[in-house]
Formats: sequence, C-alpha cells, structure tokens
Amino acid sequence: MGAVDVGTSKICTLIGRKHGTTIEILGIGLSGSSGIRKGRIIDIGKVARALRDSFFAALEVAQVLPNVVYAGIAGDGVTSCNLEGEVFLGKGGREITEKDTENAIESTKTKVDLKSQRILHLLPQEFIVDEQKGIADPVGMVATQLRVRTHLVAAQENYLHNFVKSFQQAGIDVARVVFQPLASALAVLSPTEKEIGVALVDIGGGTTDVAVFYGGSMRFSKVIPVGGEHITHDLAVGLRTSLDEAERVKVNYGCAFSRHIPEDEVIEVRDHGGNALQTVRRGYACEIIEARIREIFKLLAQELRASGWGRFLRGGVVLTGGTALLDGIVEFASSFLKVPVRLGYPESTGYTGMVQTVANPMFSTACGLLQLAVLEATSKKRLSLFDSFQRTRLWFVERLKDYFMIE
Ligand SMILES: Nc1ncnc2c1ncn2[C@@H]1O[C@H](COP(=O)(O)OP(=O)(O)OP(=O)(O)O)[C@@H](O)[C@H]1O
Ligand SMILES: [Mg+2]
Repeated sequence: MGAVDVGTSKICTLIGRKHGTTIEILGIGLSGSSGIRKGRIIDIGKVARALRDSFFAALEVAQVLPNVVYAGIAGDGVTSCNLEGEVFLGKGGREITEKDTENAIESTKTKVDLKSQRILHLLPQEFIVDEQKGIADPVGMVATQLRVRTHLVAAQENYLHNFVKSFQQAGIDVARVVFQPLASALAVLSPTEKEIGVALVDIGGGTTDVAVFYGGSMRFSKVIPVGGEHITHDLAVGLRTSLDEAERVKVNYGCAFSRHIPEDEVIEVRDHGGNALQTVRRGYACEIIEARIREIFKLLAQELRASGWGRFLRGGVVLTGGTALLDGIVEFASSFLKVPVRLGYPESTGYTGMVQTVANPMFSTACGLLQLAVLEATSKKRLSLFDSFQRTRLWFVERLKDYFMIE
C-alpha cells in the first residue's frame, strides 16, 4: 500500500502493509514541495518531479512496489457543506433496507449545485427514521420516511484535474483521492473524541485545515490559507534575514508565548547574505511568531463560531501538522480558545517498522492515508464504498478500525 500526502511544504510518501494489528511502515520518502501555493497546484511539471522524488525515495527503502496508492488533497480548491436528503417508504411504512440508506445518501447530492465540481466524499452523519434522530444504522427498522444528513466534500474540476495529472506525469497510478483532514483525523483522533465533539486542526506549511467531528462523523471542514510558512516569512521580514535563516530561528528558538522568554535572552541571526551575524532579542522573534499564531487561531475561532459547531467541542481541539511542533502552541491555543487542547500525532502503537520517524505530527496525513488504504484493502467489499464515486459509509471505516485493532 502506498500513501502520498501532497503538502505545501513537503510531499511525503509512505509505503506499508498490514502486519497483524498494526501497519508496518516499510519506506518513507520526502521531497520539498514545489509548484504548490496555498495548497493549489500552479506548476504541474514541478509537482510531478517532486512526487517522483518522494515516491522513489520511499520505494528505494521499502523495496516493494505498492499495489494501491492513496493521495491526499487539500487547499482552497476543495470545499465542503452539509446536506439533507430523504426517501419515502410508503404510507404504511416498511423495513428499511441497505439500498434505502444508499438511496437516501445519494439523494442529498441533488440538493446542491455541483457545477464544475467533483465529489470527493459524501459522508453520512446521521439518519433520521421518521422523527427519531441520531441513528447510525437504520437497516431493519420500520418507518414511512428515512432522512439522512451528509457532509459533502468536493473539489473544483480543474483543481482535481491538475492534481491527478501531476501524479500521471510522475508515473504514479492513484487509486483514491482523499481530503487530507479526513486522513489526519483517522490517524490522530480517538473514537471517543469524535463521538463527544472535537476539532482537528492541522497547521501545515501553507494552510490550516480544520475538521470538526461530532457523534462519530465529520460535521464541518474548512481550509484556512495560512500556515507555518507565513510565520517564517514574517520572521524573515522582521529580522531582515533569508527565509532559510528565518526557518532555522523559528524551529530552534520559536515560541508561541513570547512573554515566556526572558527579557535579556538574545539569539544570533545571520543577515540576508548569510555572513554578518546580528544579535536579536529572542523575545522579539517570538513576538513576531505569536502575532501570526494569534491570527491563525482568530481565523479558526471565527470559522468554528460561524459554523455553529464551536459549542460542541467537549473533546476540545487536537493540533497536528508540522507547525503544531512550535514550542508553546498547545498552551497558547488552550488559553486563546478556552477549550482543552492536545497535540495529535500518529500513535506509535499502531505501527511497526519505521515507527520513530512517523510518530510526528508532520506525518499525520500520510499515516491516515495509509491506514485508510490498508483498511479498505483488507475489507474491500464494504470499504470500497468509502467515497462518493461509489457510495459512502464512513462509519464502517471507524468500526473496522476498532475491529482490526483488537484482532
Ligand atoms: N519544530 C518546529 N517548530 C515550528 N514549526 C515547525 C517545526 N517543525 C516543522 N515546522 C513547520 O511545519 C511546517 C510544515 O508542516 P507540514 O509538513 O505539516 O506541512 P505540509 O503538510 O507540507 O503543508 P500543508 O498541510 O499546509 O499543505 C513548516 O512551515 C515548518 O516550518
Ligand atoms: Mg499537510
């Protein structure tokens, strides 16, 4: 199995296979992402080259060609919305069949104008059997009407075309295109969190992806076009240095809580040319970082409020993605959002092989993609219904995940 996370700062390929109750990571390949801006492909040739580099680096380590490759997409060309649909079962009522649930889910698509968009996922949230809400599996129940709420994720046609074309140019056959936050969620959220309400916030290089789960399913998703690269850029301007030096300062000395830094602590920063060293207050560098982090969380809070799901986060917020490694970010987020916040990374217990490397928030999406590929392959029949090119039964993924973990 193969998984390719197409991020704005890196392209990550994982090759792995099911190994007992875990996934064995056989190979990892990383390449610097280029040709992508705010998650959007602006140069197919460059992306194809980066894809090839990443893929072949993983292949070299794994020495196994993956039979199936899942690819993760995000960026501002992907949008989502909640829909409702229904099927009528006759006046006298009758038993609900599997086919009825599929028809109800399918009917939600007709409620939205999908002009120039391709559906990536149509995820059922809950069924409503006559007036009874919150039903996960209504098959076998008797009713006159079956309603369903779904979460639809769609990509602009040209956006998806460029994405798939890049893979084709790289010679990689993609079996499935998956919305990145859905994959990250699979890798880092617990079933309990998804049940009681949680927001997964993946702060990567160019974007911050948000996905809210409640009652076991995805309720809201959004891509905010700001991420760690913006912090680096701000630092480069503020400290009058290169992007590479700003990145080094951010990773080694960065902190989201500038007031935690002693007044007199100083760091040395190279100038643009990389020669002269200037002395800078570390607190000043962290003030620049904090300002951008504050903006990201402000936008996040606005999105959560506007979606109406901000009040349903008993499980709090889970931060993942490379920028979640920034010192002090968990404390900053919990004090700003006033909810419990934790760092989410692929659980090392779920993997064997190159575990140390993947147990990092930067690999959440890639790990989730691989997990999904393995899950769907090991139970092909039912899970092939995962995306809406066929049908959708996300909760099967969840159930099977539990099932395989205790196998
Ligand atoms: N220790 C660290 N402290 C702060 N930032 C870090 C650290 N390590 C990595 N980063 C930042 O994480 C970002 C990359 O994260 P990630 O690999 O999750 O992004 P991506 O998946 O390529 O991008 P996106 O998801 O936005 O498309 C970079 O901006 C990098 O500077
Ligand atoms: Mg990412």
